[in-house]
Amino acid sequence: MRFVELIRKKRRGLRLDDGELRALVEAYTEGILPDYQMSAFLMAVYFQSMEADELAVWTEAMLHSGQVLDLSHLSGAKVDKHSTGGVGDKVSLILAPLAAAAGLKVPMISGRGLGHTGGTLDKLESIPGFDVNQPVERFIELVDTLGLGLIGQTGEIAPADKKLYALRDVTATVECIPLIASSIMSKKLAEGIDSLVLDVKVGSGAFMKTLDDARELAQTMIDIGRSMDRPVRALLTDMDQPLGDTIGNSLEVIESLDTLRGEGPEDLTELTVELVAEMLDVAAEDADEDRDHRKRRLRELLQDGSAMELFARIIEEQGGDPRVCEDYSLLPTAAHAVDFTAASAGIIEAIDAESVGIAAMELGAGRRTKEDSIDHGVGLTFLKKRGAEVADGEPILRIHYNDDQNLAAVRQRLTEAIRIGDGPVEAPPLILERLS
Ligand code: URA
Repeated sequence: MRFVELIRKKRRGLRLDDGELRALVEAYTEGILPDYQMSAFLMAVYFQSMEADELAVWTEAMLHSGQVLDLSHLSGAKVDKHSTGGVGDKVSLILAPLAAAAGLKVPMISGRGLGHTGGTLDKLESIPGFDVNQPVERFIELVDTLGLGLIGQTGEIAPADKKLYALRDVTATVECIPLIASSIMSKKLAEGIDSLVLDVKVGSGAFMKTLDDARELAQTMIDIGRSMDRPVRALLTDMDQPLGDTIGNSLEVIESLDTLRGEGPEDLTELTVELVAEMLDVAAEDADEDRDHRKRRLRELLQDGSAMELFARIIEEQGGDPRVCEDYSLLPTAAHAVDFTAASAGIIEAIDAESVGIAAMELGAGRRTKEDSIDHGVGLTFLKKRGAEVADGEPILRIHYNDDQNLAAVRQRLTEAIRIGDGPVEAPPLILERLS
C-alpha cells in the first residue's frame, strides 16, 4: 500500500475505506510505517477529522492491535468508569470498591498523572507495598473473586495507542476529538467490559474547557461504543474548581478512605455515587430500581463499611498494607505544612483548577515529563472552597511540602489562582449533563 496516497487522501478531506484505515494502524504498530508518515496523517486528521464510521474502524483496529481481555466466563456485569482527567479527582479509588460492593465486576486499568492532572496509579502507589503491575491472569482472578482489580496499562493492551499517544504528544495532535476518543475507547474496550460510564470533565482544570467540546467528545465516544455494541453513558461534570478538598497522592488516599467510610466531602461523595448509579443503570442491574433509591443504597454501602472492606481486601491482595485504612500515619506525609491565607476579606469567587493542579505538581505531587518521579506525601488541603466567606488573613488551604525551593512560586501561583471578591457566586452544578 502507498501510504503517501492515504495521507494525501485524508489531507484533501476524503474518506478512507476500512482496509486503508486498518492497514495504517497495523503498519504503524508493527513499525513498518515510520513516525514521519504517521505524524503527517495525524495532522491531516486534526484538520479534516474522520467520519463516524471511519472512526469506528480506526478505533477497532487500535483495540485489536494487542491483547483484548476475555472476561466472558465471569458471571455478572463487567463495567468500568473512565474520567477524562481532572484536579483532585480521586473518584476511582472509591468507585471501584463501591461498585463491586453493589454487585458489579470492575476490571479497572488506570493511568498515571501528567501535567496538572493526577493519576490513579500514582495515588494507589502511595499505599506502602501496593503493586499495580499484576499479571493479567491474576487481575482477572481478582475481578472474579473480589469484584475488582486495580492495575496499570500493560505493554500488550492497545499498543497502537501507546505509540500513537507518544507521537501525538510531540506533534501537537493531542487536542483532537476523534483522536482522543479513539485513544480512550481502544484502551477501555480492551479490558473486556460489557459497558462503560464516562466522566467527561469540563472547565479550567479539564482537557475540555467548554461544554460544547465536552459534549462532542462524549457523544463521539458513545457512538464508538454503539458501533461495537458496547453501551456507553457519559456524565459531563464540573472541573472549574478541584474535586474534594485535597490534591496530592497520599492526601487523596486519606480523603478517599474518609469517603469510603461515609465521611468524605459532599461533592466527591455525590459524584462517586452518581457514577456508580449510572454504572448499575447501563449494566441493566436492578433496572427496576428507582434512581433515588439506588443512590440511597449506595450511600449505605459506604456507611456500613461494605465498600471499605473490599478496598482493604484489594489492597492486601495486591501486596499493600491494609492497615492504612485505619491508621493514616502509615501513609507517606510531607515534613512541613504551612497555611496559605486570604489577602483580603470577601467571598471566594473562583479557584482555577488548572493553576492549583500545577501548584501541586511544582511541590512534587505530579510530573512535568513522563520521566519525573513523584513525591507521594506533598500536596494541598483546601479548608475553604468556591462560595465560602473568608476573613482577611484567614487560612484558605494548607501547603504540605518537603522542599521549600518552589514554595515562593507555589504561593504566587495560588495567589493568582484564587479570586476573592464581593460575591455572590453562581456556581455551576456538579453534574452538568447526562448523555446516553
Ligand atoms: N487520555 C487518553 O487516554 N488519550 C488521549 O488522547 C487523551 C487523554
